Amino acid sequence: MKANIAVLPGDGIGPEVVAQGLRCLRAVAKAYGHEFALTELPFGGAAIDLSGNPLPEGTLKACLEADAVLLGAIGGPQWSAPEAQVRPEQGLLALRRALGVYANLRPVKVHPALLAASTLKPEVLQGVDLVFVRELTGGIYFGEKRRDPRSATDVCTYTVEEVERIVRVAARLAQQRRGKLVSIDKSNVLETSRLWREVTTRVMRAEFPKVSLEHMLVDSAAMHLIRRPRDFDVLVTENMFGDILTDEASMLAGSLGLLPSASLGEGTRGLYEPIHGSAPDIAGQGIANPCGTILSAALLLRHSLGLSAEAAALERAVSEAIEHNARTPDIAASRDRALSTERVGDAVLERLRAA
Ligand code: NAD
Ligand code: IPM
Ligand code: MN
Repeated sequence: MKANIAVLPGDGIGPEVVAQGLRCLRAVAKAYGHEFALTELPFGGAAIDLSGNPLPEGTLKACLEADAVLLGAIGGPQWSAPEAQVRPEQGLLALRRALGVYANLRPVKVHPALLAASTLKPEVLQGVDLVFVRELTGGIYFGEKRRDPRSATDVCTYTVEEVERIVRVAARLAQQRRGKLVSIDKSNVLETSRLWREVTTRVMRAEFPKVSLEHMLVDSAAMHLIRRPRDFDVLVTENMFGDILTDEASMLAGSLGLLPSASLGEGTRGLYEPIHGSAPDIAGQGIANPCGTILSAALLLRHSLGLSAEAAALERAVSEAIEHNARTPDIAASRDRALSTERVGDAVLERLRAA
């Protein structure tokens, strides 16, 4: 097949991990006879430096015209002064909004060979397999912001329709998995959460009676997530809670650098990015874990291009590379056995070719 993929390397470790994702996509295209047009575009802090705009018009247009978008990460201290008016993060939020990708899927699966990589006990982690469905284009991220010398305000709004559509995505996913949905909110305090809980209950009763639904308060969910992570199947939550809980959940897998994500809307076009940021503390050293990005490329193949065999092959290649100790320092068995970002990419490509 022919596909048009917009590629946004971004800032910090973004370009380093995206380079490995691109090698994998090229290898998949070659092995399976596809033609992927991969177009790199300026985005984030790099685009601010070039044009003053984190999401230049040309980049947005290319993303809207593409079949899918692969993104590394954006941001960094040089664009993060409290008084900064233009920020890389604004470009990311604007892109998610413009693409209409309201459903952010963040799967967390514990690789048996990485049980020791986590700071948590192996017996708690064994067999963990869950998916977060994070609402991505609403909530406090997108509400009105105000600032005066004595106060600051961020407004959090959710509409009934916004809750309905994200709950449906999560429920359909639960139907294909173990049939268990946990909805996370703060309905003991927040009005938006009371709406969230009401709508979720109604949609699930009316449309998904066979999927079990449990409501959980976000503070308690943060605890249960590391106390008994195996019990979770699909978790649905609003934008900011999902942001925070998925960084926490990455430590189940062993590293923030391992988790991919797919952001989906109504059609098949999607935005694919690792859940981590630009990691300024390790940028430029060639040691960032590329697995989150490579696995995001696999999600792209599956969800936007309908290439499920190719996606599974790429996921298997990553899993086997990890098993055979092709690991960056964040998950390496010991310091002296750690490989660079590129060598891990090499190992994944080798496994892919051998498949
Ligand atoms: P971060 O996710 O960049 O890094 C947090 C920690 O995890 C760091 O110690 C980092 O070294 C480590 N880490 C992250 N990715 C890794 C990888 N692939 N391999 C190995 N280690 C990895 O979060 P931060 O430091 O709080 O934020 C830095 C910048 O990134 C900020 O400007 C923030 O806004 C931005 N950010 C962007 C995105 C995105 O582009 N989607 C996501 C999160 C944060
Ligand atoms: C993420 C990031 C972003 C978010 C930031 C950079 C705006 O943390 O993708 O998880 O909060 O959504
Ligand atoms: Mn985040």
